[in-house]
Amino acid sequence: MARRRQLYEGKAKILFEGPEPGTLVQYFKDDATAFNAQKKGTITGKGVLNNRISEFLMTKLAEINVPTHFIRRLNMREQLIKEVEIIPIEVVVRNIAAGSIAQRLGIPEGTRLPRSIVEYYYKNDSLNDPMVAEEHITAFGWATPPDMDDIVHLTLRINDFLTGLFLGVGITLVDFKLEFGRLYENDEMRVVLADEISPDNCRLWDAKTNEKMDKDRFRRDLGKIEEAYQEVARRLGILPEAGSRDMKGPETMQ
Ligand SMILES: Nc1ncnc2c1ncn2[C@@H]1O[C@H](COP(=O)(O)OP(=O)(O)OP(=O)(O)O)[C@@H](O)[C@H]1O
Ligand SMILES: [Mg+2]
Repeated sequence: MARRRQLYEGKAKILFEGPEPGTLVQYFKDDATAFNAQKKGTITGKGVLNNRISEFLMTKLAEINVPTHFIRRLNMREQLIKEVEIIPIEVVVRNIAAGSIAQRLGIPEGTRLPRSIVEYYYKNDSLNDPMVAEEHITAFGWATPPDMDDIVHLTLRINDFLTGLFLGVGITLVDFKLEFGRLYENDEMRVVLADEISPDNCRLWDAKTNEKMDKDRFRRDLGKIEEAYQEVARRLGILPEAGSRDMKGPETMQ
């Protein structure tokens, strides 16, 4: 097959032109970055696992009528998605204090928050993705007030659903980041969930031991990074039970 035209290479994924207008192919790399790309590395097999995990979670979300960009997985590292106009905001939901909220506000990591907190960050690497308020988002036209209503509503539903889904497999959903985009279909605009949901942009702790099962293992040099991502996939039922033994090569993932 002729190689697809590359449209964008990000830190963790590459976007290619899709087979039909309005579609893209999202390719998941093993590259990992942290602290706004100051720390770089690779996590062997991460792209394969994130492709599967994001497919699984987006499919489950579609089943509860959360609109997503996901169409179908094409192969080990690629999925077909609907092209959207990305809203340049990272939406972060926090259930338990960890990472920047713990640092900035001096809240001990692991503190259960009295209620889930939604934060927004302006997607701009050269500004270091600064935190912004809804006021900034609407004032600067990054999203309209109706877009924001959709985003908040979808985000809270996604949080409730994923919290329960992960708890059912012995994982605490501490926090996560979402991206949304605008999709124009039949003269109508809809806000849909885009990008990915994976251990790259969620904090996932073992519900019993609080052991970290996400990208914090990379950020904090905790080791056993591949194993942690595999364990998340295994618990979600995506990998066969003997997942870690079979994961020598990505061939076994198909
Ligand atoms: N359905 C979609 N249509 C168009 N763009 C998308 C879609 N889903 C995700 N994207 C964008 O594709 C890119 C995915 O690549 P990656 O996650 O590697 O980027 P990144 O290095 O994190 O950069 P960025 O700061 O732009 O997110 C992101 O810019 C993301 O916003
Ligand atoms: Mg990204």
